[in-house]
Parts: sequence; C-alpha cells; structure tokens
Amino acid sequence: MSGEEVKPPSAAELADMDRDELLKLGGQLDGVEIVDYPTPWPVENTRAERRAERLVAFWFVLSALSAIAFVVVLATPWPKTFWDWAYRAPGQPGYTAYSLYTPALGVTLGLAILGLGIGVILYTKKFVPTETAVQERGDNQGEGSPELDRATIMAHLADAGNRSTIARRSLIKRSAIAGAGALGLAAAALPVASFIKDPWKDSDGRESLWHTGWKPTYQGEVVYLRTATGSVEEDLKEVRRVKVGDLDAGSMVTVFPYRDSEAHDEEKLNAALTRVDNPVMLIRLRSTDAAKVVKRQGQEDFNFGDYYAYTKICSHVGCPTSLYEQRTNRILCPCHQSQFDALHYAKPIFGPATRPLAQLPITVDKEGYLVARGDFIEAIGPAFWERKS
Ligand code: FES
Repeated sequence: MSGEEVKPPSAAELADMDRDELLKLGGQLDGVEIVDYPTPWPVENTRAERRAERLVAFWFVLSALSAIAFVVVLATPWPKTFWDWAYRAPGQPGYTAYSLYTPALGVTLGLAILGLGIGVILYTKKFVPTETAVQERGDNQGEGSPELDRATIMAHLADAGNRSTIARRSLIKRSAIAGAGALGLAAAALPVASFIKDPWKDSDGRESLWHTGWKPTYQGEVVYLRTATGSVEEDLKEVRRVKVGDLDAGSMVTVFPYRDSEAHDEEKLNAALTRVDNPVMLIRLRSTDAAKVVKRQGQEDFNFGDYYAYTKICSHVGCPTSLYEQRTNRILCPCHQSQFDALHYAKPIFGPATRPLAQLPITVDKEGYLVARGDFIEAIGPAFWERKS
C-alpha cells in the first residue's frame, strides 16, 4: 500500500483518461495495491485453453437444450401430440408416460438452470483474471458513489472482461447466449402455459368447473357412494357401495360416485374413480361429537345421521385433504397445513385456506345404501376467476 494522498482529477481530466489510467487511478484512490494480476492464458490457443473453452460451451449448450426440452414437454399436452400426460391408474396403458411427465419437467428445467450456473462458474474460474490486491478499509458515509468512483469501477469491470478474452471466444459467447436465451424462454413459457391450456376442454361440457361427477345425468338418477381399494383390477371388478353401518363411529373413508348405468362399463367406472373432483371424505362422527355439530346455513339437512360427506379437494389450492383426526375432529391438508373443523361444516380454522370444504348432500336409499341427494351446491376446490364465493 502506498499510503500517499492521491489528488482526484478534474472532470475534464477524467473524461480524457483511458481505461488503463482509470484502472490505475481507481486503485490509488481506494488505497488498493495490486500485488499480482496474471493473465489466465498468457499463451494463446493452447490445447488446454481450447479444452477449457469447449467445457464452458458444453454446459451452456446443455442448458440451452434442456430449456428447449422443458418447453417442448410443457407445451406438448396442448395439443397432445407427443406426451399424453392425462391421469392413468397403475396398470393402465399410458401409466408410464403419465408417471414420467412431472419428473421430466423437473429434470429438464433443473438441468437448464444447473447448466447455465456451472457454465458461468467455469467461465469465471478459467477465463476471468484473478487479481491479488490489498486495500485499506474505508469509511462509508452512506452517500451514493461519486462519478469518479463509478468511472473507475466501470473501467475495472471492463478490464476484467477484456482480459478474460471474451471478445474473441465466439463459442462461449454463442453457447452462453443460447443457454440464457433458452432458459429465459422456459421461464416465460411457465406462466404463459397456463393461459394456453383451456380449463374447459377435456371435460364434460362448459360447466365442468361448476359440477362434479356427483351430478345426476338425468332427474331421479341414483348416485351411490362407493369405496375404492386402489387396485384398478379389483375396483373395476367389484363395486363396493357403502351402507349405513359399514363405518365405525369416528372413522373416515374416501368415496366416489357410482350409478347403475356404469355397471360392467370399465371406461365409465374408471372415469368416476379418476376424475379429480370426485373424491369425497365420508366421515362418521362419534355420537357425542355429532351432538356438538354446527351446521352451515342452508345445509342443515346435508348429513345423514352421524354421516357427513365433504369434498376431499382442499379449498386452498386443491390438494387432497385426506387426513381426519378422530380425537379433535379436524381434517388436515398435508400440503400447507390447513385444518378444517368437521364439527363446524368443515370451515377452516388454521392455515391458508379461507373457505370451508364443500359438503355433499347425502341420504340413504330403501336398501340402506348411502346415496348423494345431488351435486355439491358450490364449486369445489380453489378459487378461479369466474367463481363468486
Ligand atoms: Fe390445502 Fe394448501 S392445498 S392447505
């Protein structure tokens, strides 16, 4: 360190200074002594240098290809030309493609970000000169940097860029631009994709967001509550409808809609089991708890005795709220820990959810089977633009 007082140049002198002079001046003004400032590749175009260049370019190209692959995978469901991601149960044709869809999105986007990051780090390590400098600690007066400091630091940065020889490394430049550009495209595709997909498409008509599979298809149609084992073969072979008395007090089971017209029709049976808004939690309260129930206005007759049926689709962002705690009568959503009070029309009592879980009106038929008295009277799940409540 010199320790000498350096006189700042006038505005005219500053304007006339070239980059080397500004660099030197910056160091002097800051009390910086550059001990060592080696050029990373003093001999040009060696094999090691070319290898380093190709290595950096490899990561940028990998990033670019991964980002493009991400956009392709993201866009293919619309139209479904390349990757049919629609839900398939285990054992069904297309299950492998379905189960690999989300991992493919994660892997391609992850590689795109990782490739760009590693490329930048390698470029910095291998091509940007590393100086060894000693500087005295200065006083920060809390004021913005003066023009002089800005000019000298810009000269310093430009010099580092110049010494890194980026100007003559077109392979790195092009691959870096491709990587950053493709990753930018992937980042832009994410929000745009949700506008491209038509939420009303692939569904049972324009009203599919308002209604579920519990809606009778004609007046007087009986829609039963059935359980599922999780095994496609078994669930298609045998339909287990729920009877009063099948559940112990204080227990819960997930049920799906079933109508007689679906008997032996595997496609319809499977559609009822896999439609995302069909799962319902059927809860049988203990009689001591049932006595404390507070019913929602207008839904006083939606339960049958101690049996209450709530949608399984969380009103926050639609995860399955499949945990029922018997002791506290709370329904828990594992995604963001919302809790709903089963004794209080499943209204939210903790967490980010703000609306109660929709309640399915149920009753029992002449044979003692539990049946739906109709569809939910409100849209289930999270908010969407047209939703009023
Ligand atoms: Fe249930 Fe977020 S989806 S708490």
